[in-house]
Amino acid sequence: MEPGAVRPGVAGPGAVGPGVAKPGLAKPGVAKPAGAEPGIAKPGGVEPGVAQSGSARDIEDAPVVELRDVSVRFGRARRTVRALQDVSLTVAPGETVGLVGESGSGKSTAARVALGLVAPASGAVSLFGADLGRVRGRRRRALLSGVGVVLQDPVASLDARMSVGECVAEPLRVHRRGMSAAERRARVAEVLELVRLPAELAGRGPRELSGGQRQRVSLARALVLRPRLLVADEPTSALDVSVQRTVLDVIAELQRDLGFACLFVSHDLAVVQQFAQRVVVLRDGRVEEHGPTMTTLLRPRTEYTRRLVAAVPVPDPVVQRRRRGERRASLTAGGTEATA
Ligand SMILES: Nc1ncnc2c1ncn2[C@@H]1O[C@H](COP(=O)(O)OP(=O)(O)O)[C@@H](O)[C@H]1O
Ligand SMILES: [Mg+2]
Repeated sequence: MEPGAVRPGVAGPGAVGPGVAKPGLAKPGVAKPAGAEPGIAKPGGVEPGVAQSGSARDIEDAPVVELRDVSVRFGRARRTVRALQDVSLTVAPGETVGLVGESGSGKSTAARVALGLVAPASGAVSLFGADLGRVRGRRRRALLSGVGVVLQDPVASLDARMSVGECVAEPLRVHRRGMSAAERRARVAEVLELVRLPAELAGRGPRELSGGQRQRVSLARALVLRPRLLVADEPTSALDVSVQRTVLDVIAELQRDLGFACLFVSHDLAVVQQFAQRVVVLRDGRVEEHGPTMTTLLRPRTEYTRRLVAAVPVPDPVVQRRRRGERRASLTAGGTEATA
């Protein structure tokens, strides 16, 4: 588990903490900690039933997060809302999965389940190979510190009483107790630069910033512990279109450089198309369909997904041409029906 064995910039063992199995961490060319070898018992590591048995290849590709047949209910008795029903999804190391669906379809709930904020009524969630339903206390906090979060509303997600520097440093204070104040300041300056914010902003309050700047502060905070997974729930929906671009570019660039996986929740299919390798489409709390992004968005298997795709402007000319064709086809079909 020597930190030197991990590529700089890639979330290292320190990001999750000792004793936590990290099957997804090992990258080609990076020395694996002995505990990540198949068949070797990991003290305090992967829970029984979650361990991915098989070859080293399987272990390298083991999902950073996995929801298996997850159901979530809110409220009681007759007022129960079934927010998720038997939802399964995985995000592989370094991969971006887009979670799409109408408002109320369960996207945020699924994201909150992945973050350990909502416990499923049934089903299982594993994070970095460990069963989130079973780990408690310090180990759970260590596990969750491997996940960065960016939410829709940067005003709500940043404490207005803290300076930008303090907001970004807070996860370090909590999870890197051994760090000196000077080391923290240096790391904060480093991540502010990563998200393209001037270091001077560290002394300001979140409210003195523009929406785009605030969202980049959230991103800096999310990345300060070098997470292996970023959960982004509608990260640009509250921003002006002109600012959305910058924030998305920063996320894309950082993901390329740092290699974190991403669960990217958005109702904006144009953004998802650009970002995600795979998409999962939610409808009324169930997985409607899933697959590689281009296949799923260009050739949706269900009418629901087709409507989602048709509802947003997609800049891709191929998609646009296709959509024009489909609109024409559906008009013709409607006409035929009406006269039939
Ligand atoms: N804390 C909660 N209490 C009660 N109902 C909730 C809660 N959170 C979400 N819901 C309900 O669960 C369903 C899914 O919500 P959500 O996951 O927020 O959808 P989305 O993010 O796709 O818009 C909705 O019907 C919503 O009203
Ligand atoms: Mg939501």
